[in-house]
Amino acid sequence: MGKRLEGAVAIISGAGSSGPGWGNGKACAVQFAREGAQVFAVDINTEAVAETKAIIDQEGGDCVIYNADVTDSDSVGRLVAACVETYGRIDVLHNNVGIVEPGGPEEIKEENWDRLMNVNVKSMYLTAKNVLPHMVEAGSGSIINVSSIASFYSLGYPCVSYCASKGAVNALTRNIATQYAKHQIRCNAILPGLMDTPLIRGAVSQAYEDVEAMVSERDALCPMGKMGDAWDVAHSAVFLASEESRYVTGIELVVDGGLTLTMKL
Ligand SMILES: NC(=O)c1ccc[n+]([C@@H]2O[C@H](COP(=O)([O-])OP(=O)(O)OC[C@H]3O[C@@H](n4cnc5c(N)ncnc54)[C@H](O)[C@@H]3O)[C@@H](O)[C@H]2O)c1
Repeated sequence: MGKRLEGAVAIISGAGSSGPGWGNGKACAVQFAREGAQVFAVDINTEAVAETKAIIDQEGGDCVIYNADVTDSDSVGRLVAACVETYGRIDVLHNNVGIVEPGGPEEIKEENWDRLMNVNVKSMYLTAKNVLPHMVEAGSGSIINVSSIASFYSLGYPCVSYCASKGAVNALTRNIATQYAKHQIRCNAILPGLMDTPLIRGAVSQAYEDVEAMVSERDALCPMGKMGDAWDVAHSAVFLASEESRYVTGIELVVDGGLTLTMKL
């Protein structure tokens, strides 16, 4: 079998990682390159995304990094232009950037609500807005938005802005899928469940007393006895980026080891 993304150009937002180990965006960037994609890796943290590039380079893959804040309209315009200038086109847009802040409406500060919505939702609108004209011209493309099962279910602790933002990501995904199907452009969401990534050991752990207790608690909640990891998200993203999913659009691909089967709305 050939490489599944041979010749594809993919923009990946948040291709670094917020801590040591494998975040979803970092694993996606590396897996896309392993499958033959030319990876345009974007992150606000230059050091983190340089680490991703070093891994891809070492494995003989093709990766260019770009430092940008994807909540900033001008920066997104520039990064999309830079990708087209570098690689000539854009086949895949993988919107991975997302942040978490535990808390309910009374606890979360208004400025933090706005910031989280900008990072988790507006960034995906901005990247799509700038990438879609290129995909329309090419008559093909795949957009993948990283959502969460938190868009449907309670996480067991208050996390109102994050859950609301991921609900918006699902709606954004369905709308883009509907509007652009006639251009052969697909748009799908990935809904990870409880995943063991640097993100949860950082921001999410604020909702718990200690990190190892949080990890054990999250593992115990999962029907398979353990959380998933960044590679589970990366492999799903390869499927949605590749021709194998050419007739799949507007879906919410749940990657949770069966966790949502045990949850009530
Ligand atoms: N880990 C989980 O349990 C879990 C579960 C469900 C969904 N998710 C989703 O996965 C995605 C993130 O996964 P990850 O593991 O890669 O997270 P991560 O925090 O490890 O990495 C995200 C990267 O995005 C970058 N970033 C943040 N804000 C940015 C901005 N404004 N512009 C450009 N880059 C920015 C960070 O520097 C970081 O390198 C999020 O959308 C998150 O909601 C994670």
